[in-house]
Amino acid sequence: MRKKVLGLVLTIVMLISLVGCSSNKDVSTSGGDATKDTPAATEAPATDSTTETAPPATTDKTFKVGISMPTKSLERWNRDGSYLQQQFQSLGYEAELTYSDNKSDQQVNDIQNLIADGVNLLVIAAIDGDTLSTVLQDAKAQNIPVISYDRLIMNTDAISYYVSFDNYTVGKLQGQYIVDTLDLDNAGDKTFNLEVTAGDPADNNATYFYNGAMDVLKPYIDKGTLKVPSGQTKFEEVATAAWDTATALDRMQNILASYYADGTQLDVALCSNDSTALGVTQAIESDYAGSNTPIITGQDGDVANLKNLLDGKQSMTVYKAVANEAVVTVALAQEILAGNKPDASLTDKFDCAATYDTESYDNGTGKIPSYLLVPDVVTKDNYKEKLVDTGYYKLGDDGYLVAAQ
Ligand code: GAL
Repeated sequence: MRKKVLGLVLTIVMLISLVGCSSNKDVSTSGGDATKDTPAATEAPATDSTTETAPPATTDKTFKVGISMPTKSLERWNRDGSYLQQQFQSLGYEAELTYSDNKSDQQVNDIQNLIADGVNLLVIAAIDGDTLSTVLQDAKAQNIPVISYDRLIMNTDAISYYVSFDNYTVGKLQGQYIVDTLDLDNAGDKTFNLEVTAGDPADNNATYFYNGAMDVLKPYIDKGTLKVPSGQTKFEEVATAAWDTATALDRMQNILASYYADGTQLDVALCSNDSTALGVTQAIESDYAGSNTPIITGQDGDVANLKNLLDGKQSMTVYKAVANEAVVTVALAQEILAGNKPDASLTDKFDCAATYDTESYDNGTGKIPSYLLVPDVVTKDNYKEKLVDTGYYKLGDDGYLVAAQ
């Protein structure tokens, strides 16, 4: 059984290797088996489910997976949803995909409907990590395993696993980029002005990003090398509900009008992700009196931000290869549906670096076993190597990046 599941996992790795993790040595040497096990719509999962370790409910039908994504209005979730759906379908699974328009009530309804539709497993990226406990009790009562995708779902013991990137490291990479670019360690008496924009308080990731960056920057703020003219540094002061671009734009316009109208120079805008960076960049373009170009950080590699990166308006983005996040999630789902208890050994099946972490993420009911992928810094200097050569994006006719899929 285990061998067969491994074969299927390897197959999916091979299927998506053009845009996702590439196959490792084990994969290429077991190519024959993997090919034999290549799932057809009626074959692999259903056949597997006839063995004694398979969940009983799915003996004679294809597994059905429910994928609940937060919103189409933030670019990355479109990519996550389509990668997940494609990868599940390529294994012969049915995959129902919902988007909930960033409304947590709607997400509860969508998940209820997925449960009513008879899904065997749920993959959920929560809009508000605190609002899903009740609906997930229903999932648990019906033995439907739940993978908390990218964002940790809080206060429910219905979660089997968490798959994400190392969220604290995302923030650290942003902070370290600022330290290195401004050469803060050799600043002497020189001071720099910083403003901070963080993410959605309803998203458990947002404080990880904020803490990662601020842990790197705080020593320089304490020393006086970095100054924050607005005085707004606490998470609650700098957070952006729903990661909304317009909200980030408004707040930065207010800050610029209140603290920078006299010509005070803004050197750096720490932004937790690309949707907020987009708003901050627009505010700087329209309302900033200074003549310098502030450093602006981001996260996700959204197309509009990559355009700004190439145009010199945004300095960096922390890129998270969501195709790989889907690869890990799908392999994990496969193991769970086969009745196995995935552990650290699952990470051996991929070339993409992912760690198995049973300590870092506690959702209020206990520590949730987590698979964490590794984020990467993308700048104007390395975007070809990191994004184009890897196949995630291609260069459009206008010289800007477009998503490859
Ligand atoms: C976070 C996610 C980020 C970013 C943000 C806005 O939870 O990890 O990659 O996309 O949400 O959607």
